[in-house]
This record gives sequence, structure tokens and C-alpha cells, in this order.
Amino acid sequence: MEKQIVCLAGDGIGPEVMAAGKRVLHMIERLYQHKFHLQDELFGGAAIDAYGNPLPARTLAACLASDAVLLAAVGGPRWDTAPERPEKGLLALRKALGVYANVRPVTVDEATLHLSPLKEECAKNVDFVVVRELTGGIYFSYPKHRTNEQATDTLTYSRREVERIVEYAFRLAATRRKKVTSIDKANVLESSKLWREVTEEVALRYQGIALEHLLVDAAAMEMIKNPGRFDVIVTENLFGDILSDEASVLSGSLGMLPSASHAEQGPSLYEPIHGSAPDLEADRANPIAMMRSVAMMLQQSFGLSAEANAIEQAIQNVLKTGKATSDLGGKETTSSFTNYVLQELEAQVLVGRGRA
Ligand code: NAD
Ligand code: IPM
Ligand code: MN
Repeated sequence: MEKQIVCLAGDGIGPEVMAAGKRVLHMIERLYQHKFHLQDELFGGAAIDAYGNPLPARTLAACLASDAVLLAAVGGPRWDTAPERPEKGLLALRKALGVYANVRPVTVDEATLHLSPLKEECAKNVDFVVVRELTGGIYFSYPKHRTNEQATDTLTYSRREVERIVEYAFRLAATRRKKVTSIDKANVLESSKLWREVTEEVALRYQGIALEHLLVDAAAMEMIKNPGRFDVIVTENLFGDILSDEASVLSGSLGMLPSASHAEQGPSLYEPIHGSAPDLEADRANPIAMMRSVAMMLQQSFGLSAEANAIEQAIQNVLKTGKATSDLGGKETTSSFTNYVLQELEAQVLVGRGRA
């Protein structure tokens, strides 16, 4: 298979975890005889420094013309007071690609179960997916303005925007444990009242899938108290952002969780849920979220399930040996951990073919 992948390394730990992701892609290429054309483009703070724009026209054009986009992370204190922020480029990219469905799977690895702040019997049942609406809500609605005395953000959702993300969640639940939890603030927000109404209507078209509604404050509590109850969570943009970082703690580290973002048509975007981690020293970041984002890309954009499963299995096998980066209490660096995953990947695939 031959594919064009645009790689946006961005800022902070972005280039380091992107390097790990690319090494995994090169190993898959070699083991399975694929050709991935990896095209680097400037994005985020790096692009502000070069062009004064976090999403240069050239970068956007490359993304739109690609088979998939792989993104590491953007942002950092250097640009906090700059006229343009790196994060603005990320929002503009998501909007331009139309990637409304952000899929964030949350699982707890057997080998890192003891690192979860939850009791093991609670944490081991964690297996859910946060489906976050990604191109609407308070991030994108107008009016949005600020004076010295007052600032305004607006939270708008249309029926169609709610319908398509909730439909996405129901279709996903049909392939899993057949339960959707819709999270809103329908006791206060008008947008949530519409959200709940539309969700009820969509549910009528999916017999055999259970629907429950939770208010976002109670949901934040349930995620810690009884996370095993969740299968597919569907929620609006800001709630999904906050709840998915909360969910990452169940898995032991924010450095473990990947994401995929899908549009109605055109290339999908794959990125770890974490940011640029400016507090981390060089070569200390956990590359697992990036490697899992690569696996999601292989599976969801290219249909390469065996390759995606091999990556996940290699990560699990290395974790089982006790090797881990410092966020998981280990001693490995980004590059040494990546070396182990590559070795494991190669060994496992060759053993599978009876050649090792
Ligand atoms: P962050 O996700 O960068 O870091 C939060 C905490 O998690 C930090 O303690 C960090 O060290 C840790 N962490 C994150 N990724 C890790 C990894 N791979 N391995 C080990 N530990 C990891 O969030 P923040 O500090 O609030 O934000 C820093 C910058 O990143 C901000 O500019 C923010 O806007 C940006 N950001 C970007 C994205 C993105 O590009 N998709 C996502 C979130 C935040
Ligand atoms: C994420 C990030 C972004 C978001 C920021 C950096 C704009 O936190 O991808 O979760 O809020 O969507
Ligand atoms: Mn976030």
C-alpha cells in the first residue's frame, strides 16, 4: 500500500514524539512492504516563528491533499503573549478539515494497572471511548470578543451538528458494548437542552443500544468512582476536552492516550490528546500516545488492522517487562523506550512468520 501522510511535529515535546511515531511507521513499512510518504510541514509555534502564522497556506494545502494527517503537539510559554497563538492554528486546521468527530479511546494497560490512582479492581474495568464534538460549540461560535472590561464567548450548536456526532457515537456503540452515555448540562444550558432532545431522537433509530444522560458535573465524578460503567461517551467540544484529560489519569498518564478525528469526507487527523508539555526535559516524554495515534491511523484510515494490532501488542509487551518512561515511574527516555518497541515489533512480526 502507498500513502501520503503529512507530519506536523509542532512545538515542545512535539518533535520528539513525532520522531518516535515516524520510526514506528518506517518499521511497519519495512515489515509489511508498504510505502508511506511522510511529508513534514511547519505548524503551530514553529510556523509562527517562520511565517508569523500557525497554519501557513502551504501546510493547510498539504494536509487537504494528504491521505491522513499526523500531528504531535503545539503551544508553549514562548508564544503565550505573542499576537498569534499556536493553538489557533490547531483549531483552524480542525475546522478546515471538517473533523467533527474526535474519538479518544481510554483503556488501562494490565502492566500499568498499579499506577492508576484508582483501586485495581476499579481501574481494570476501564474500556470506554470519548466521542468529542470537535468543530463546534464554544470554541468556534460567534460573537466572541473582549474589551478591557468585558469578554464574551458564545456556545451555539445546530441540530445538524448534534445529530451527526450523536449518530457517530451510536454507530460506534453498535460495534462495542452497545451503550451510549450522553453528557451535557441540560439543567442550565439551552444548547444542552437541544443536545438532549436530538440525542433522544437519534436513539429511536438505534434499537438495541442503551442511552443514558448524565450531567457533566456528575459525569466527572462517575469517571473516577465507577469508570467501568462507560462504553461510548458522547459530548460537546469543551466538556469532551476536560473529561478526556480527566480520563487519562485512569490509564496512569496523559502520555498514553491517542485520538482520531474524522470528517464527513477527506483526510482524518490523528494526534495524542496531550499537549507540548513544556515542563518536561528533553527526551523524557512518553511516546505511547503518539504510537497509538499511528496505530489508529493505520487501522481507521488505511484498514491495516494487522499492522495496528502489532503496534499495540509491541507496546503492551514492552510495558510488561517493566520498561517505561518517567511519567510511569520508569527510567527510559523517549528514544530508548521507542527502541524497545521497535525491537519488539520486529521480533513479534518475524516470529509470527516463523522467521526468527
Ligand atoms: P500538556 O498536555 O502539555 O501537559 C500536562 C501534563 O501532562 C504535564 O505535566 C506534562 O508533563 C504531562 N504530559 C503531557 N504529555 C506527556 C507525555 N507525552 N509524556 C509524559 N508526560 C506528559 O498540557 P499543558 O501543560 O496544560 O499545556 C502545554 C501547552 O500545550 C499549552 O500551550 C497548551 O495549549 C498546549 N496543548 C496542545 C495540545 C495539542 O497540540 N493537541 C493539547 C493540549 C495542550
Ligand atoms: C486538545 C487540546 C486543544 C483543545 C487545545 C490545544 C486547543 O487541549 O486537543 O485536547 O482544547 O482542543
Ligand atoms: Mn485538551
